[in-house]
Amino acid sequence: MGALPPNPRSISGQKKGSAVALNSERFVADLHILRTFGASGVGKGVVRPAYSEADMAARDWLASRMAEAGLEPRFDVMGNLFGVAEGPSLLLGSHSDSQPQGGWLDGALGVVAALEVARASVEAGGPAISVVSFQDEEGRYGVTTGSNVWTGGLSLADADALVDHDGVALGEARRVVGDRVGAPVDPAQFTAFVELHIEQGATLDTAGAQIGVVTDIVGIRDRVITLTGQQNHAGTTAMALRRDAFQGLVAFSGRLNERLRNVVTPSSVWTIGHVAVAPNASSIVPGQVRFSMQWRDGDADRLARMEAVIEETLAEVAAEMNLGVEQGPLLGLEPVAMDGHLRACLEAGAEAVAPGKWRRMPSGALHDATNVARVMPVAMLFVPSIGGISHAFEEDTDEADLVAGLRVLAHAAGLQALA
Ligand code: GLV
Ligand code: MN
Ligand code: MN
Repeated sequence: MGALPPNPRSISGQKKGSAVALNSERFVADLHILRTFGASGVGKGVVRPAYSEADMAARDWLASRMAEAGLEPRFDVMGNLFGVAEGPSLLLGSHSDSQPQGGWLDGALGVVAALEVARASVEAGGPAISVVSFQDEEGRYGVTTGSNVWTGGLSLADADALVDHDGVALGEARRVVGDRVGAPVDPAQFTAFVELHIEQGATLDTAGAQIGVVTDIVGIRDRVITLTGQQNHAGTTAMALRRDAFQGLVAFSGRLNERLRNVVTPSSVWTIGHVAVAPNASSIVPGQVRFSMQWRDGDADRLARMEAVIEETLAEVAAEMNLGVEQGPLLGLEPVAMDGHLRACLEAGAEAVAPGKWRRMPSGALHDATNVARVMPVAMLFVPSIGGISHAFEEDTDEADLVAGLRVLAHAAGLQALA
């Protein structure tokens, strides 16, 4: 674990008062350039899933920006991209892959803001700040895969065996990183990690607040479930004789919503977000359905209680409807609290940049910071998402709020921002 620097008001140890010219125009311009990699054509939407052509092109562009900023660009085996400053440094960043239909700021904001803070710091003669864009935060292969492997939460061999919804193994997909891969990047050279992100919910927007300082990040469980019945003719198979896999999913989902109510709080969430019905034809009773089952909560015991309800309900429906059940590996991350000292630095920055317009809040979304907490102190800050919308092409944030987030990040790093 990296040792924390002594200065209680600054993550990097930099004395208060260094005049660093953060260039907010350059920061916003870079965000818009990053959006062009995988631009969806709908609003500011982005389609840049992990290891896609757009994702790798964006990473190459980021690597060139890092080099221009005086950082050493380094790819690891997973395709995580680091811009490394010399000597011990503070690590800032997030991820630049997107959901299959994503917004332009999810992850991108934290990476580009990190780049701007590091660049401004180099121009001002220090402190040393490194930048990261983690790979597959958005879970083409499960849950924050790139940072999970980098921090030892998941072995490379186990990661390679993970398969996406199209049946492509991660071990196959990551070949596109190719000869970019260099020597491993040792986490011990980084003293702490701070991630700026959009909130992706409506708390800040509704409250008219500009900054959220994160207290903790919820935990998650995620697995793929397959129900198998009997594919048959939709005209000749009597309803009583059917073993309809899709109807099995419908029954499971309905009962689950009722039963989970006994164990959850208003903050608990569960989602069946990906469904593949086979053979997916109007005149065929579906023989198989494969679906994702994901649940999140800030309390690890509650996650376990939710799992038990899911298991019981699944077994019950399968027995009643004579369906086979197959479950994929249970992926997950535990709830994580943010480091107190780093939080205090962010709170001081928030009060300086947005006096009275910030609040402490938990994160209901997952972030790479959860994994990075295994190897160094971590903290996060949020800026508002307009209408609380994210993981959608409509995702957006006021430019003034983006710049406020940048300034709080720089302030907390010990750089008095002149944005
Ligand atoms: C990350 O994008 C998440 O699913 O929370
Ligand atoms: Mn994200
Ligand atoms: Mn996301």
